Amino acid sequence: MDIEIRLLKATEKPPLELLLLADPSEAIVREYLSRGKCYVAAISNEIIGAFVLLQTRPETIEIINIAVREDCQGRGIGKKLVWNAIEKAKEERIKTIEIGTGNSSIGQLLLYQKCGFRITGIDRDFFIRHYDEEIYENGIQCRDMIRLSFDI
Ligand code: COA
Repeated sequence: MDIEIRLLKATEKPPLELLLLADPSEAIVREYLSRGKCYVAAISNEIIGAFVLLQTRPETIEIINIAVREDCQGRGIGKKLVWNAIEKAKEERIKTIEIGTGNSSIGQLLLYQKCGFRITGIDRDFFIRHYDEEIYENGIQCRDMIRLSFDI
């Protein structure tokens, strides 16, 4: 299975449906798209994954809205996307990569730690402050943002 991971072309529409898997707020997704670089993963020219890289501080980027199409999840593609983001950061002489996820996002917390990210902090009640709707996952409310980082 050959996966091509590349920058979204200026002529292509951003894969909103995919990005919304990672964040239920279209307004927030669009805001990140306007500030960051969107990368897509394609198999036989069909887009099945995406993430946005956003420079947040000098030498620091954040991986935002990483997502794999539901029927392609659980096959190692998410890990490939995270490693690819790390490679891109290295090429751009970035020193720190950050990522954030919900306290209820157990699979995502496993994925990021398997890729070498360490927990740096907790932004308590982030999802209560920034989202109108309550979010539930794995039987618990998503309230806090768990912040993780990877030092290159
Ligand atoms: N439950 C348990 N473990 C999970 C998991 C889940 N739902 N999702 C990922 N993992 C872990 C596994 O332990 C796996 O490790 P292994 O290969 O050693 O078994 C590791 O993560 C990598 O899994 P992988 O198959 O590469 O992930 P994926 O292709 O399914 O992509 C996401 C992972 C998170 C990108 C994908 O599930 C997704 O798009 N989810 C919806 C969007 C989302 O939540 N994005 C993140 C927002 S913070």
